[in-house]
Amino acid sequence: ESLEEDELNQEVRDVISSLPTVEGWLSHYQGFWIPTKCMHGVLATQKHLQAHETDILLATIPKAGTTWLKAILFALVNRVRYLDSQQHPLLANNPHTLLPFLETKLFYKKNEVSDLTLLTSPRLFATHLSYSSLPTSVKNSTCKIVYVCRNPKDTFVSQWHFQNKVGALMVTKPVSNSLEQSFNNFCRGMSVYGPFWDHVLSYWIESLEKPEKVFFLKYEEMKEQPIIHLKRLAEFLGCSFSPEEEEKGRVNDILKLCSFDNLSNLEINKKGKSSVFGIENASYFRKGEVGDWKNYLTAQMVERLDCITEEKFHTVGLKF
Ligand code: A3P
Repeated sequence: ESLEEDELNQEVRDVISSLPTVEGWLSHYQGFWIPTKCMHGVLATQKHLQAHETDILLATIPKAGTTWLKAILFALVNRVRYLDSQQHPLLANNPHTLLPFLETKLFYKKNEVSDLTLLTSPRLFATHLSYSSLPTSVKNSTCKIVYVCRNPKDTFVSQWHFQNKVGALMVTKPVSNSLEQSFNNFCRGMSVYGPFWDHVLSYWIESLEKPEKVFFLKYEEMKEQPIIHLKRLAEFLGCSFSPEEEEKGRVNDILKLCSFDNLSNLEINKKGKSSVFGIENASYFRKGEVGDWKNYLTAQMVERLDCITEEKFHTVGLKF
């Protein structure tokens, strides 16, 4: 082990043990509730990541559509190389394998950091960190950030299902996981990478100030008008579809490849386990619909959540 790694571990231990927690599984760091087991990776990436100008970073709050957008970004950026291939990497790999999270093991070791320079350009990464907690080099470079969010009711319901499903596999997990308790915690901001509203706001504001750097997308609008938004995304990333590509149906090819039905029925996603925390790939695909909250939340819960959302977002013109 390198000296740097030892130093980091000591630093991590010191920082983590000083943080307030929710039942040990979430730690309060820089204003957000981060899964304690990700803290090592968070500190490492903040310390080590050297962004390249061509990097593309997908930022989301968990359950906002990360898996979907990872697939779309990969397919979009690598379309010349792979879209006609019978062996498209998305057919044999879960999207999380192709587009790693910054705050997982990537930056634990000094040697692994240098390995990253070998990745082909543009490098694709993902993160659940809020804008304010991104590594300084990401904020200072001209690299692009794609932020995806989802209405808080569906985000909450999806988070709750996911935690129930994979909780048993996780090293640290929520102890109290009834719908009511989780809902209460969510409303109080104590959810994975929450407060939900602060997370969304951190990127929304940045996207207003720097539209060439931060692309802000809602899960719902991507569901409703996928063609329009995929074309906007391509334009933002500087890889617009040519008229010939449009004629050949490239936009639809990507959307079909990355659709819920297609991805969730692939062998790798039905049976495989992702390298990220050893979670089963199938748990990243549940319903993939807008409005499933209607089947879970009471009228009172809806009112409470809507009220918070209205209060937090109305002054900045953000609606769900
Ligand atoms: P539901 O639990 O509402 O079904 P994340 O990828 O950020 O973990 O989010 C997971 C959510 O996105 C789940 O929502 C999942 O079903 C949905 N999802 C996964 N793949 C999708 C796809 N290709 N298209 C649309 N939604 C998808």
